[in-house]
Amino acid sequence: MTVILGIESSCDETSASICIDGKIKSNIIANQLVHAKYGGVVPELASRAHQQNIIPTVDEAIKQAGITKEDITSVAFTRGPGLLGSLLVGTSFAKSFALARNIPLVEVNHMQAHILAHFIEDPKPQFPFLCLTVSGGHTQIVLVKDYFDMELIGETLDDAAGEAFDKTAKILNLPYPGGPLIDKYAADGNPKAFVLPEPQIPDLNFSFSGLKTAILYLVQREMKADPQFLEHRMADLCATVQDRIVSILLNKLKKAVKQTGVRQVAIAGGVSANSGLRKQLQEMGEQRKLDVFIPKFEYCTDNAAMIAIAGYHKFLQGDFVGQEITPLARMSV
Ligand code: KG4
Ligand code: ZN
Repeated sequence: MTVILGIESSCDETSASICIDGKIKSNIIANQLVHAKYGGVVPELASRAHQQNIIPTVDEAIKQAGITKEDITSVAFTRGPGLLGSLLVGTSFAKSFALARNIPLVEVNHMQAHILAHFIEDPKPQFPFLCLTVSGGHTQIVLVKDYFDMELIGETLDDAAGEAFDKTAKILNLPYPGGPLIDKYAADGNPKAFVLPEPQIPDLNFSFSGLKTAILYLVQREMKADPQFLEHRMADLCATVQDRIVSILLNKLKKAVKQTGVRQVAIAGGVSANSGLRKQLQEMGEQRKLDVFIPKFEYCTDNAAMIAIAGYHKFLQGDFVGQEITPLARMSV
């Protein structure tokens, strides 16, 4: 029996998961609510919260899986990319656990793990497939050739898609993280209420910083005429912004399908929880006869189940690391 303990601590979620023979048995996530009042993640507070949360989170994951610590055969942890102080907590915990129990240690790339979340449940994609990974820190189109053989074929030149949602939310006076709130308001709005530019970026790369500026100018202009503009038009604003971000993402994904000839497409990362993106990708798949893979909500945003499943596949390959391993704030896919 292969029992993997997965640990995730790259940003502001402390998470632990147990994977037994490739099946996820528990996935516990401790959210850090402390950041909301600061309008974004405060790295120092995130590290402290990870330190407080990690042991109870791991204990709960073990309990829910119905096993004991002695049953664990390997520990997998997020090495990066992420906030260094946050990564250090998960890395140190995983190293100590592996040392104390004398079991192998597996390092996992967080961006690869978002993609490998598609191997938690059926239907699973076949290799090769394309994955649009959209999170708070990254926006990438990846050609996935095998579990750990991935080629980055497009990425953002400035802000990530999640950042575009969060920064827009700030302009609209919505609390952090703004993505889920924009999604909620957008449900009642008209996506064509305002005109927002689509950036003309070559290749398969993205840019979102111009969009943020365009929204800021639009809000400033409209507020001169109606100081209550935000209250009056929140749903329309959110629907328009969401529709524009989704169209920027999907236009590049269509281009990637055309360029590579690969007809299986997946989305991953926090922004793949967005209902507009999920719906429009589904429609794109039906129109273009593509096989579309959309993760369950609980596997979109940061979680340790994706670390445990990635760790399981590395364990099968005997790909272990030693106690000298250190986390990395930057890591390519
Ligand atoms: O993958 P993730 O949990 O953390 C990172 O690795 O960055 O992604 C977090 C990002 C945040 O920017 C958040 O606003 C965004 O995902 N997000 C959403 C939705 N849910 C989370 N953005 C749009 N719509 C959503 N429903
Ligand atoms: Zn993430």
